[in-house]
Amino acid sequence: MPSPLHRKRVTLIPGDGIGPEITSSMKEVIAALDVDLVWDEYNAGLKVFEETGTLVPQSIYDSFEKNKVALKGPITTPIGTGFRSINVELRKRYDLYACVRPIQSIGKVPSHYQAVDIVLFRENTEDLYMGLEEQVSADEARSIKVITRQASRRIATSAFEYAVQHNRKKVTVVTKANIMKLSDGLFLDTVRDVSKHYPTIEFTEILVDNMCMQMVLNPNQFDVVVTENLYGDILSDLGAALVGGLGFVPGANVGTEMALFEATHGSAPDIAGMGIANPTALLLSAAMMLDHFNVKKEADLLRAAIDRLYQDEANFTKDIKGPLNTREYTTKLIQIIKASRGKVDAKTE
Ligand code: NAI
Repeated sequence: MPSPLHRKRVTLIPGDGIGPEITSSMKEVIAALDVDLVWDEYNAGLKVFEETGTLVPQSIYDSFEKNKVALKGPITTPIGTGFRSINVELRKRYDLYACVRPIQSIGKVPSHYQAVDIVLFRENTEDLYMGLEEQVSADEARSIKVITRQASRRIATSAFEYAVQHNRKKVTVVTKANIMKLSDGLFLDTVRDVSKHYPTIEFTEILVDNMCMQMVLNPNQFDVVVTENLYGDILSDLGAALVGGLGFVPGANVGTEMALFEATHGSAPDIAGMGIANPTALLLSAAMMLDHFNVKKEADLLRAAIDRLYQDEANFTKDIKGPLNTREYTTKLIQIIKASRGKVDAKTE
């Protein structure tokens, strides 16, 4: 029986490189959860640009504006002039101001750490990402860092609200306010102000350089983390390395009305078309999307199935030196899901 969810429509952008392979795996797995979803599928990226001269077709904007929710695979961003990152474009256009990255240990995925469970909130709209650059002379270029109280307040509020709703104990703010006294100072002051409205949540402050060291020394000391755009970008990749790499970390870009869920890794051109890509990050992003739709049971079931799959080294994917290709992984995960739902014998072998 499909879940009692009212039918949801999602704009699905498979992307390029390994995008189509992991997207097709993800669709099969979500179908096995019996969630009543309709995919409105459109593509964007390099191939679309070569064929049509447009990087992001208007149909994607129209669909996303109608559905309010999108799930996106990785898209190649050629380095150099002429292309703006589609990710940055969508975040800016729809004011998807909160980038949420759960950094969580999965099964026995090789890592130096156990039971890592950090949720990183990265401000997504300002800081050095506003593209305010100036070539002062042939030998001097400048980038302008913009921090506003309004944007700082809303990302801080998102982090504290998340902490309250998910029974988290602590929020840590990361800045470099000792050096950038005005910009980072404003961010820090604003987060401090917001923290006063959440007396049950412990609030701590740390400088970004120390944060990098502390995350490597002992990531288990962190719970919810809130930071600016650039520090968030760097810390989320550092965090991914603590739990097995980018192939295991999901992401969400959330605004007041719209949300874009996406795997955090790139299009992996080195393995595209080989059938060995790991769909886990995209699947975990889909689980975050189900949370967003309040389809908690299925989202938890999916996360638990992925965790269970990775408890057994015989189920490891190729990216972590295991035997399973994308097809075998997908079949195995669906078996585990169906077994958990009592539809097949509990044995997955
Ligand atoms: P990448 O993440 O595509 O690949 C780095 C390494 O990780 C490669 O060896 C790749 O094979 C491996 N890898 C990544 N995801 C994997 C998966 N799911 N399963 C197995 N192995 C995986 O990073 P790279 O090479 O720097 O970027 C390639 C392209 O992707 C660039 O054009 C970049 O701009 C774009 N990109 C797009 C993103 C997005 O759309 N969200 C994010 C990051 C990069």
